[in-house]
Amino acid sequence: MEKIAIGFLGCGNIGCGVYKLLESYGAQIEANEGVAFDVRKILVRSLGKKRAYDVDERLLTDKPEDVLDDPDIAIVMEFMGGNEPASSYMIRALEHGKTVVTANKMALASRWDEIVAAAREHQSGLYYEASVCGAVPIIRAINDSLQANRITSVMGIINGTTNYILTRMSSEGAAYADVLADAQRLGLAEPDPTADVEGYDAAYKLSILSTLAFHKHVPVTSVYREGITNVTPLDVQCGKEFGLTLKLLAVAKEEDGVVQARVHPTFVPNAHPLASVNNAFNAVYVQGHACGEMMFYGRGAGDMPTASALVSDLIKAAKTKRHTMPAVAAGDCVMAEDWHCVHFIRMQAKDQPGVLSYVCGKFAEHGVSIASMVQKGEGEQSGSVQLIFLTHTASEKAVRTALGEMDSAMVIQGSVIRVEGKQ
Ligand code: HSE
Repeated sequence: MEKIAIGFLGCGNIGCGVYKLLESYGAQIEANEGVAFDVRKILVRSLGKKRAYDVDERLLTDKPEDVLDDPDIAIVMEFMGGNEPASSYMIRALEHGKTVVTANKMALASRWDEIVAAAREHQSGLYYEASVCGAVPIIRAINDSLQANRITSVMGIINGTTNYILTRMSSEGAAYADVLADAQRLGLAEPDPTADVEGYDAAYKLSILSTLAFHKHVPVTSVYREGITNVTPLDVQCGKEFGLTLKLLAVAKEEDGVVQARVHPTFVPNAHPLASVNNAFNAVYVQGHACGEMMFYGRGAGDMPTASALVSDLIKAAKTKRHTMPAVAAGDCVMAEDWHCVHFIRMQAKDQPGVLSYVCGKFAEHGVSIASMVQKGEGEQSGSVQLIFLTHTASEKAVRTALGEMDSAMVIQGSVIRVEGKQ
């Protein structure tokens, strides 16, 4: 069988994973799928570097043109990561009529318009299942399997590092900084963890997911983002007392043509399917008007889970006669300026007559209705108590305004954490 010539951009852990998978399972793929691949060139930054897998050194090059301008290479697989030069290389490959298969959520989310335009204009294939949730086939599901649905919401645990940290904070009562340091020692968190813990990684992925789900471009700059660095063991514990589990959730909803997309620490009821997604696992919970609710669960990172998605895209690209792009309307979508959900609010208040009534009065003034309240720390020397409120569904703006108006001589604000999935 004639082999399809492919080129790699990058050969770190993911690239080595793809090489290994093609080498170890390529014959079976050929038998099952009727397509075979020949890795022709691999662009690397440093030719002499030791790699995670023993790749054939004769394939390595440090010249991008060896991959991008070789007319024999039909499919370019990109796993360099980052915005540049990866975006420019992908655009150049697409402009040359090559198919691009990528895991690069940052490049796709940041340069969506340009990359998609290059694919459209040149009728080139663009495949990116691995960019969101590694091995979990969520892009294919949204694009190919759920087309009969108006998708109304997508909620996901789409960053494994933060899920690992929050799982351990919850099970051990440990502090954020201690678990992060441990995760870094174990190689589960990057030496610079910013992209994960500040929610950037999840925001890129949510921009891609929500754009495909709602058929409107949701720019990553429009995704509201809060990371997990301020999460305290006290909040995790208080949430547990209300029957809630804390997750870094990516939430996208569309109502009446208006989209909200946000990444932030979120409580979910213990009975919700997302509450039991632990450690570094990912899951995406989708609601469609015809299919109802469904959840996709699996490994969102790692060389072989990511290689699984990349090679699956490679096979799909090789078997596709005419590449198509998902239907996404021109222009950016209309983003919500406010959203409504249940709020968990913790504050430190003076232990004096009238303080609770004052706080509840402020909430009432702004139409924020209290569903339940717990007071902790009575009789302590400090003369203050912790007040923890769970609201009924309330406007985010109203909650913020009410809290902003509270007299700091009476209350010191602790945390506001949104709650999703509560009936
Ligand atoms: N760093 C990501 C995570 C994996 O922790 O899920 C790649 O997107």
